[in-house]
Amino acid sequence: MTSEIIYDEALVPAYTLPDPLVGLDGRPVTNAADWRERRRPEILRLFEEEVYGRTPTQSVPVRYEVTDETPGALGGRATRKQVTLHLGDTAGDPTLHLLLYLPPNPTGPVPCFLGLNFSGNHSIHPDPAIHLSAVWMRPDPENGIVNNRATEAARGAKANRWAVERILERGYGVATAYCGDLDPDYDDGFQNGVHPLFYAPGQSRPAADEWGTLGAWAWGLSRALDYLETESAVDARRVAVLGHSRLGKAALWAGAQDERFGLVISNDSGCGGAALARRRFGETVERINTTFPHWFCANHQRYNGNEDALPVDQHMLLALVAPRPLYVASAAEDLWADPRGEFLGAAGASPVYRLLGTDGLAADAMPAIHQPITSRIGYHIRAGGHDVTAYDWEQFMDFADKHLR
Ligand code: GCU
Repeated sequence: MTSEIIYDEALVPAYTLPDPLVGLDGRPVTNAADWRERRRPEILRLFEEEVYGRTPTQSVPVRYEVTDETPGALGGRATRKQVTLHLGDTAGDPTLHLLLYLPPNPTGPVPCFLGLNFSGNHSIHPDPAIHLSAVWMRPDPENGIVNNRATEAARGAKANRWAVERILERGYGVATAYCGDLDPDYDDGFQNGVHPLFYAPGQSRPAADEWGTLGAWAWGLSRALDYLETESAVDARRVAVLGHSRLGKAALWAGAQDERFGLVISNDSGCGGAALARRRFGETVERINTTFPHWFCANHQRYNGNEDALPVDQHMLLALVAPRPLYVASAAEDLWADPRGEFLGAAGASPVYRLLGTDGLAADAMPAIHQPITSRIGYHIRAGGHDVTAYDWEQFMDFADKHLR
């Protein structure tokens, strides 16, 4: 590592952000059509080629297998559904296990939160009927992971991050799947997970501008949405894609690429998520590419210690969500993720939202702790560290009540 980690605002270097409303050829974007037809595709391509890698456009056969459908789950508070998405049609191809809780007596199709989880569906709630994940997990003995596999002791280990009962009470569904079903979170040379489904004959790893692990996770969120489109109890036009931290990066990339997502929520997504790379505050491009060489595309390594050469910054990722509602959440003690950088990312997307006729981020300065902003781009910073808390969920639902209903 070449440099010290910056945790002091005074040490943030001077930088100039690329203007989301000026094309690579220097021509300004002056209206919505010009954004849509010229600049938006250009920015999307830059994120594909230089940051996350291209997502394959071919489709693979996907078969849905409902393995559980239980009305009256959670003591009558939910209908629980578990569905296996068989990705590809060859034995040994990956499977995505989707867990869905829906309000018990809906008056019509419900809006739904969709997000990947870190530790298996069984970790989000102690409900003993959730299928225990059988695939590779990061070592975590304290949370019931033994020999890289979940045990019964892993049930509900991350339940504090999923406000399931509150979500149902407030009239939303919640759908989740384990990120490792799509691509296990280690540098395996892209031999496991969904990447091999798309290799050309003779290909054994993604090219320098093809997707990494974040790309695979984002792709999987879109496949989950494909399924939700077939689910009559869910209003698929009102699906909020969300994620925490590395999964927040994936949620943003999914929401940027797939405009079917009605709302996009980033929780503490930090570097490679909502935080501006050029600030180099907390985690940097070099640091993330070194610790997690599999997350981005190989081309992204060019920007290690060289953020100013990036043709984009993360405010432009957020701008790709426009004009759909977008919510960015930070935590005050989560300096590694650069809360101010996350706020400035949201602020930097605002001109695009305003060009498209919305109020964007209606704030001149970073708000105080627990003072959420609920304009078309929403933002809050809460007390505490890197996590998803009940407070975060209440804000996401207040925001969804306002913008997704
Ligand atoms: C690490 C990583 C972050 C990531 C976080 C998480 O801290 O450096 O980029 O967001 O893990 O996923 O919790």
